[in-house]
Amino acid sequence: MAQLLDGKQLSKTIQEEFKQEVQEFNTKGLKIPHLAAVLVGDNPASQSYIRNKIKSCERVGFQSTLIKKEADITEEALLEVIKELNANEEIDGYIVQLPLPKHISEDRINLAIEPDKDVDGFHPMNLGKMTLGLDTFIPATPFGIMTMLDRYNIPTSGKNCVVIGRSNIVGTPMSILLSRNNKVGNCTVTLTHSRTKDLKALTLEADIIVAAIGRANFLTADMIKEGAVIIDVGINRVDDASRKRGYRLVGDVDFAALEPKASYITPVPGGVGPMTVTSLLYNTLKACKRKH
Ligand code: GUN
Repeated sequence: MAQLLDGKQLSKTIQEEFKQEVQEFNTKGLKIPHLAAVLVGDNPASQSYIRNKIKSCERVGFQSTLIKKEADITEEALLEVIKELNANEEIDGYIVQLPLPKHISEDRINLAIEPDKDVDGFHPMNLGKMTLGLDTFIPATPFGIMTMLDRYNIPTSGKNCVVIGRSNIVGTPMSILLSRNNKVGNCTVTLTHSRTKDLKALTLEADIIVAAIGRANFLTADMIKEGAVIIDVGINRVDDASRKRGYRLVGDVDFAALEPKASYITPVPGGVGPMTVTSLLYNTLKACKRKH
């Protein structure tokens, strides 16, 4: 039976550390971290993620500002919001929740974000620094996973790691971080995607699998080897009439089938999700500390 990688509990522990740091800032009369979040439109998943991020800010004593815009906002008007956030001295860092409506170029918005305030770590400057191993903001989900591997003392050096999904936000940065020469790292990484020929042959050789494709129960028990470490990034809504809200959340991994076979596994919810939020708080704290 696998050991659970409890992202919820670990997040609580780490957020408690942040809270104490903020209390010290207060005592010393230093500036308190301030995160702003831009939410465009009414995507229910995005609304829920943003709610979580704002609530977490309150929990640790950060200031937060939520900027909501209608789905039909023009790209120009959104760029104006970005410009104001870049200039606003009170805001240490901010995020623009993705996905954006189709008529807005995510690339153009991302490029407009001041890299020093880019606590999502999505700007090419920050992704470039990350790739070179320079100090920067690491994208929250991959960073949360690295933190989890670190705090649970899971060996990574020399391990075979398969990342499933090559998104800019998760799969691509994850593959880079795991392959670098760091305390958590030194893996031999295979980044797989929709054109990968024989995924199962690769996952069967993997010591660590990161599933980030957004398809419910995609990774099945026959695809992993005994003792593999399973990291599930998926948050998929599946209809469930027995639940009050009409759906339940499942990962990209068939959890029930993999749990007996894996050595470590993240649950959904309560695994990677909370770690993402904690990493965003970490980046915001870092942005603020740069100013102190
Ligand atoms: N959409 C899904 N994950 C993320 C994230 O980490 N940051 C932002 N801005 N949008 C997202």
